[in-house]
Amino acid sequence: MALAASAGMDYADVQVHRFPDGESRVRLPAALPARVIMCRSLDHPNDKLIELVLAAEEARILGVDKLTLVAPYLCYMRQDYSFRPGEAVSQRSVGSLLARYFDALVTVDPHLHRVSSLEQAVPTGHSVSLLAAGFVGEFLARERPGSLVVGPDAESEQWVRVVAARSGSDYVVGSKVRHGDRDVEILLQGDFRGRDVVLVDDMASTGRTLEAAAKIIWTQQPASISIIVTHALFSGDAFERLSSAGFAHIWSTDSIPHTSNAIALAPLLADQLRSKV
Ligand code: R5P
Repeated sequence: MALAASAGMDYADVQVHRFPDGESRVRLPAALPARVIMCRSLDHPNDKLIELVLAAEEARILGVDKLTLVAPYLCYMRQDYSFRPGEAVSQRSVGSLLARYFDALVTVDPHLHRVSSLEQAVPTGHSVSLLAAGFVGEFLARERPGSLVVGPDAESEQWVRVVAARSGSDYVVGSKVRHGDRDVEILLQGDFRGRDVVLVDDMASTGRTLEAAAKIIWTQQPASISIIVTHALFSGDAFERLSSAGFAHIWSTDSIPHTSNAIALAPLLADQLRSKV
């Protein structure tokens, strides 16, 4: 709704009912214009993807000609490679599924690792990846000027560099070895003593990456450590653990609704929708 208001577009709800057996009933408005933008963040993807396919298929039956998906958080982007024979490359499968149903895609900070563009992962012909880092940097300049920005791993540098430049901060980036879903090892060097440190990453899932980075920083007695992530996945008890671990602030964008949301993405998405999709 905030996105439609920001973009100056009409808005209608898609009604989703979950049956006791776990199936979903999806109801669109009975009449739709030729151009429709569906907005759905794809956390909890296994349910949401099916519902999205049902909605997209019905939209076509109702005569929609151009169907755009705005998925502020785009799921299944991390497995872009088969690490063992027989292991499915979920990015490729989900990417081609979405491309089959949508003419365009807009998302924010997708986790692209070995592929160079969003279009390669989701080949709609008009797949656009927006960067939250500019908004995050402006937020940081207001809330925590003079901070030291820290990215936990090499992949985070693409975001951290922009956040630091926009907030007038300096930054350092660590490196990460992942041993398992909840077992990560971080190597991080820097002068954190007495500094307000802000850990910046694209997402927090188990929270282990942020915890491992903070553990190193805390050994040097920083003034404070805060967290900003684009996508507040916070699986299981991750948010409760982080909330009681002594961080000064835990902030996120509203790509996924969560109590940590502090940075609205509607203006960023609306600008893209108004001008280019
Ligand atoms: C992966 O490298 C991402 O950028 C995040 O660092 C990662 O997904 C965070 O996962 P977790 O919170 O489970 O450590």
